[in-house]
Amino acid sequence: MTRVLLADDDASVRKVLAASLRREGYDVTAAQDGQEALELLRATVGDEEAEPFDVLISDVRMPRLDGMSLLEQVARDFADLPVVMLTAHGTVDLAVTALKQGAFDFVSKPYDRDEFMRTIKKAARQHEKDDDEPKRGDKSARLLLGESEAMQKVVAMIDKVADSPSTVLVTGESGTGKELVAVALHEGSARKDKPFIRINCGAIPATLIEAELFGYEKGAFTGAATQKPGRFELADEGTLFLDEIGDLPLDMQVRLLRVLQEGTFERVGGIKTMSVDVRLIAATNKDLEAEIEAGRFRDDLFYRLNVVPIALPPLRDRPGDIRTLTEHFVDKYNQRLGKNIEAVDDDALKVLTTYPWPGNIRELENIIERTVLFSDGDRITRASLPPELLAKIDRARAPTTKDDAGAPRPMKEIVKEATAELERDLIQAALKETGGNVTHAARYLKISRKSLQLKMRDLGLREDRPGQPD
Ligand SMILES: Nc1ncnc2c1ncn2[C@@H]1O[C@H](COP(=O)(O)OP(=O)(O)OP(=O)(O)O)[C@@H](O)[C@H]1O
Ligand SMILES: [Mg+2]
Repeated sequence: MTRVLLADDDASVRKVLAASLRREGYDVTAAQDGQEALELLRATVGDEEAEPFDVLISDVRMPRLDGMSLLEQVARDFADLPVVMLTAHGTVDLAVTALKQGAFDFVSKPYDRDEFMRTIKKAARQHEKDDDEPKRGDKSARLLLGESEAMQKVVAMIDKVADSPSTVLVTGESGTGKELVAVALHEGSARKDKPFIRINCGAIPATLIEAELFGYEKGAFTGAATQKPGRFELADEGTLFLDEIGDLPLDMQVRLLRVLQEGTFERVGGIKTMSVDVRLIAATNKDLEAEIEAGRFRDDLFYRLNVVPIALPPLRDRPGDIRTLTEHFVDKYNQRLGKNIEAVDDDALKVLTTYPWPGNIRELENIIERTVLFSDGDRITRASLPPELLAKIDRARAPTTKDDAGAPRPMKEIVKEATAELERDLIQAALKETGGNVTHAARYLKISRKSLQLKMRDLGLREDRPGQPD
């Protein structure tokens, strides 16, 4: 029998909830505050006879030990016990905080009985799964290469949340690896042998999204000759990846929100209510907060999705990852294209780390593929890189020798510009080497701290963000 521990300081709430839970077949123990709940939990630990609890339901505001503190202790000492928080209506922020701190879900008061029962059932099922399935290792996150601190943080986050049911929102510029993160999360979870279903909300015409997501019954609309399951159904017990969620039309946002809140949906043209067990991951390259401001994205949906945010930094902010990624793609295309490139010259690497990569890792991969394809030798040199890439870099750096009217410019000016360019490179390299510490960078460059600061100001380099021009 599933054992539920219920903590609420309101005797009438305890009575009503305990009664409905018992009617559904749960074995309920009630506690009148967080402290008592914690004591009951601890009592199950050393005692062979005592059955452990399967779900904890907790109110937020309680004397002695409140719900958030209880959650904190449970997350630490009873990590696989799912906690469902009872929150007062309208305290979305609190609920979101609870989810971030490891609560399984929340039910807002006054609650809908069916929704409440569904949530408890899901929580109990989650607990069973935790018991049955061995914990997955963290190898999934190894799909993502990169030694930079930023990337390491992403990898650590993936390891941490892969096996939790919480919804993840992955953000980042185009080509930064959002889909790869979604795959890594799925692969790192107990759902890895179940389906991973992706839907690109930006690529499907608005009129078809609903049918794609939820499926349709025969005859639901012209052309619906047979019935068809939607992506939610296909992803049952697995992961559903909602890509480009920022492009989802407003009316579909409302539908999706309802499904997330209620856990059920109907096929288009159908009357049967369906419910599935799906882990959601959403991704977007849009700034959803700005979209909310502009009235194009619903804030309530955003809060539901943004339980665990993972933000991928653009490649230009982590040039340290470029070598590893380049070598990885060289290996990949050596194999695919039957080539045998053994090394990438320093000069070529310098170009690759200087280029700002607006298309991020996808662009890097494309460039390497082409470079490998057209290379005859066994190394990639500066000259083997695509000419337009070199041109872009040279254009950004080469001194202009003529003015706008086409007249030659004074040598003095040209030299001054080129010097500034070189100084900027040297200072940025020194700052990178010394972790952004100006004093150390000055010592490294063998100039005084004062003159380094002056030069940085002249060159528009800021002290607080090492290596980034203003
Ligand atoms: N950290 C990484 N290590 C290795 N390969 C990566 C990494 N990040 C991304 N890639 C590769 O780069 C390519 C682009 O990644 P992905 O498709 O996940 O990006 P995206 O953010 O979803 O892009 P878009 O916004 O254009 O859809 C893929 O081939 C992916 O395998
Ligand atoms: Mg993508």
